[in-house]
Amino acid sequence: MKRIGVMTSGGDAPGMNAAVRAVVRSAVYHGLEVFGIERGYKGMIEGAIHPIGPRDVSGIVGRGGTILHTARCLEFMEKPGRDKGAAELAKLGIEGLVVIGGDGSYHGAEKLHKEFGIRCIGLPGTIDNDIGGTDFTIGFDTAINTAMDAIDRIRDTAASHDRIFFIEVMGRSSGYVAMISGIAGGAEDILVPEANNGIDSLIERLREGHARGKKSSIVIVAEGHKSGGAAAVAEKVAAQSEFQDNRVTVIGHLQRGGAPTAFDRVLASRMGLRAVEALLEGESGKMVGVSGQNMLLRPIAEAWELRTMFDPGLLRVAHVLGV
Ligand code: ADP
Ligand code: F6P
Repeated sequence: MKRIGVMTSGGDAPGMNAAVRAVVRSAVYHGLEVFGIERGYKGMIEGAIHPIGPRDVSGIVGRGGTILHTARCLEFMEKPGRDKGAAELAKLGIEGLVVIGGDGSYHGAEKLHKEFGIRCIGLPGTIDNDIGGTDFTIGFDTAINTAMDAIDRIRDTAASHDRIFFIEVMGRSSGYVAMISGIAGGAEDILVPEANNGIDSLIERLREGHARGKKSSIVIVAEGHKSGGAAAVAEKVAAQSEFQDNRVTVIGHLQRGGAPTAFDRVLASRMGLRAVEALLEGESGKMVGVSGQNMLLRPIAEAWELRTMFDPGLLRVAHVLGV
């Protein structure tokens, strides 16, 4: 194997650039040529594939977003789209690929591996931390710290005005960001897609807190909670209780941008090196994960088969401490 490609795909995550840098520099260290594929599978199909070298990745270890850009590509979900993508890689003699993205991107990588024999290694890049086979995904640590910072700021205002704030964080199907940033920010309650807590129990908790002397409260709502998000929760609480003076803040895409934390930079750097060395060992259809201090190579399907859910015990931590 002489040439490999690297791409970012799906939602961007802080630390993706550090991963791209690590892949490029590790590959060059090992005597490989590297091609950067722009805009994920979309760019692959369109042939937006260019040589990328160590100097092209200078100064990006601490930059958010992804210099390779990212996209979602419906065409790649169908075989004719993948035929086009594989043909573009073959034209350039690219035999190995590092795909940095979430489990959707991994599905695409597994198909390239199975249908065309292209050696593929996945790196988990998503703020959601919902990928099986790894304790942490690249971007999660930055996202929870960004959300925690926002919660801290809002608490100042909530406390000054004796108000309830409903803060919506990202996570269409994963409540991990909500749960961890909520505990870190001392939230009174946390509503996530995976747990069955609803409006009635929330109102009960708010009443209990106020009976114990609380004058303000922070409630974190994951965007994918069954209620429909923070605005819907605020409306229902106002309609069904005495808690009328509340405010809603949607943190939204603020959580996806910004400089990655040291944790994410180091995780991405270690994973990038491991991915290149895995390709050189002849591995394919695998993902790099971290377990404790160790880098692991796991079958890529574990990403969705063992999808990470937060420990429900974490909700108890929030409830016991948030009274
Ligand atoms: P993420 O990688 O963050 O989970 P998506 O689920 O949007 O993001 O997936 C990113 C891209 O991966 C999709 O736009 C598509 O091009 C490709 N992809 C997703 N699922 C499949 C699939 N089942 N087969 C082939 N390609 C897929
Ligand atoms: O998967 C990462 C994520 O940020 C989710 O938490 C969120 O639901 C989704 O992407 C938002 O995607 P988009 O940027 O396409 O709106």
